[in-house]
Amino acid sequence: MKDDTTLVHAGRKPFDNNGIVNPPVFHASTVLFPTLASWEHARENRDEPGTIIYGRRGTPTTFALQDAMAALEGADHCVAVPSGLAAITVPLLAYLNPGDHMLMLDAVYYPARRFTETLLNRIGVETTFYDPNIGEGIADLIRDTTRVIYLEAPGSQTFEMQDIPAITKIAKDAGAITMMDNTWATPLYFKPLDFGVDISIMAATKYIVGHSDAMLGMISTRDEHHAAVRDSAWTLGMTVGPDDCYLGQRGIRTLSARLARHQESAFRIAEWFEAREEVDRVLYPALPSDPGHEIWKRDFKGASGLFGVVLKETPKEAVAAMLDGYHYFGMGGSWGGYESLVLPTQPEKLRSATTWDAPGPTLRYHIGLEDPEDLIGDLEAGFERLRASA
Ligand SMILES: Cc1ncc(COP(=O)(O)O)c(C=O)c1O
Repeated sequence: MKDDTTLVHAGRKPFDNNGIVNPPVFHASTVLFPTLASWEHARENRDEPGTIIYGRRGTPTTFALQDAMAALEGADHCVAVPSGLAAITVPLLAYLNPGDHMLMLDAVYYPARRFTETLLNRIGVETTFYDPNIGEGIADLIRDTTRVIYLEAPGSQTFEMQDIPAITKIAKDAGAITMMDNTWATPLYFKPLDFGVDISIMAATKYIVGHSDAMLGMISTRDEHHAAVRDSAWTLGMTVGPDDCYLGQRGIRTLSARLARHQESAFRIAEWFEAREEVDRVLYPALPSDPGHEIWKRDFKGASGLFGVVLKETPKEAVAAMLDGYHYFGMGGSWGGYESLVLPTQPEKLRSATTWDAPGPTLRYHIGLEDPEDLIGDLEAGFERLRASA
């Protein structure tokens, strides 16, 4: 089955549900058992996929979402958790123990860094941050105690590509587990497990849900790592409400069509930004000028709608004049919904192993599903306000 067909059919069994196309939404905490024997059978098999014993451990609504996502990832299993950040913290807590060491890219999504610097640090896990461009050089940072190598590509805010196959090979030889935040590409454009990653992490809040109306995380693995990840999620009491599971599985059905449009418009607008004299550089691996372009072309099947723009030196008031007057670019966190967004970022404040050199402010744009002509008009008017103010 090709991916587009998987997206439409995986995790759905209409004829188990009166022919209804979409999986039903089960609201459940208590699940009743008619006999002692049936209760004991469920209790003994409670770790088996598909066992329904208590709402927190999942219902057919949860399983439909997990099955669809596992199929798309080419994984054996997927565990749904209540946010993208939970999809990061749950596998880290599954594997890291006091005395362990972790390698984490310097351009990591900031709350993941904060988790390592607070809770993981407190329980005695040491983290070394590494240059996302390190490639095979990662070998020099591995210690006897290195248990996890954490990847994210492209990097948050700064969009560096990582040489994933080189790093996963070295990790395997060293006996370290690799985890990758693959939110930007989604498994439609990059399948981490096919490139040697052990644990694929998705903030499904973004493109999977796709409509800015639910928080959701997904963790996908092969058999080998499933029990550890599932037990970590269960031990921590991680459970996703049925309506959010439903929105996640519904988003999966249209992922391909939406991402294709995000990509097409984002590429066009990234090129447009590149030609503007107010712009120092555009951070988008799909652009041939991007330092990560060759790796992106080698490993990824596509690019999503999120990129960075570094402006030349620009006073803050001029940036404010530009951003405050946008009609279509909302200012706010998150991304991956149908709408366009902009956010000023401060990469220089969020790294410790590398420096961020930029002559002016860095902005993050998410290109939504609006007509790209309208978006370019909005951006053009923004630059006029910037120039008038500067
Ligand atoms: C790359 C990346 N990973 C993870 C997350 C966390 O997802 P959530 O907001 O669902 O916790 C985000 C959110 O912005 C993100 O950008």
